[in-house]
Amino acid sequence: MEQYWSGSAINENKGMVDNLHRYGVITSRKVAEVMETIDRALFVPSGGGLQPYVDSPMPIGYNATISAPHMHATCLQLLEKNLQPGMRVLDVGSGTGYLTACFALMVGPQGRAIGVEHIPELVSFSIENIQKSAAAQPLKDGSLSVHAGDGRQGWPEFAPYDAIHVGAAAPEIPQPLIDQLKPGGRMVIPVGNIFQDLKVVDKNSDGSISIRTETSVRYVPLTSKEAQLRG
Ligand SMILES: C[S@@+](CC[C@H](N)C(=O)[O-])C[C@H]1O[C@@H](n2cnc3c(N)ncnc32)[C@H](O)[C@@H]1O
Repeated sequence: MEQYWSGSAINENKGMVDNLHRYGVITSRKVAEVMETIDRALFVPSGGGLQPYVDSPMPIGYNATISAPHMHATCLQLLEKNLQPGMRVLDVGSGTGYLTACFALMVGPQGRAIGVEHIPELVSFSIENIQKSAAAQPLKDGSLSVHAGDGRQGWPEFAPYDAIHVGAAAPEIPQPLIDQLKPGGRMVIPVGNIFQDLKVVDKNSDGSISIRTETSVRYVPLTSKEAQLRG
């Protein structure tokens, strides 16, 4: 849970990715390429004076945020081996659609990127954002889709998944998400209430689970729609 830079000196997407590289957050060429291709500014609400390339989460309405660029880069890298062309990925709490769009480019047209978000207005917002982005084609083809629903139940229709990303902090790891992970699959999920850890959950080939802590984080809760809107 840190911020690598603040201020508004960075005014283009490439500058943001260069900074993530400079600070040692991005080490993967593929992740750098994908983050350069998907312009973060298209996913940050305009008109509110928000600086899309600052390394900070930003409000997107409905008590939700778009995560900070360094968290997006970290999660893409943790999942990279499970985001190879042709693989299936589930993005729970897909919010603005930014990471779902990045995932779609990573897994390519033979793969499948699914976003699940429980605020219907954010589902529509994310689809509009993706349509303006370099992931418009996967959305059109159907290799990328965003659905309204409670992500704690996963999205069984396209399970099992090679990769699951959870963009909101769960009090504990939801069992349906573990069940929907393929053997060899990996999930990245923030777990905790006030103090949260980003957990990396690997499903081994015999179906057993290995869990490790990557870093401390601060995310909005993975909760019910009603609890989130109450704030
Ligand atoms: C940190 S925000 C957005 C993260 C997203 N990766 C982004 O950067 O745009 C987390 C999202 O999780 C959603 N969320 C929270 N609980 C949820 C649930 N039970 N099911 C689906 N979405 C949920 C919130 O509405 C919010 O959009």
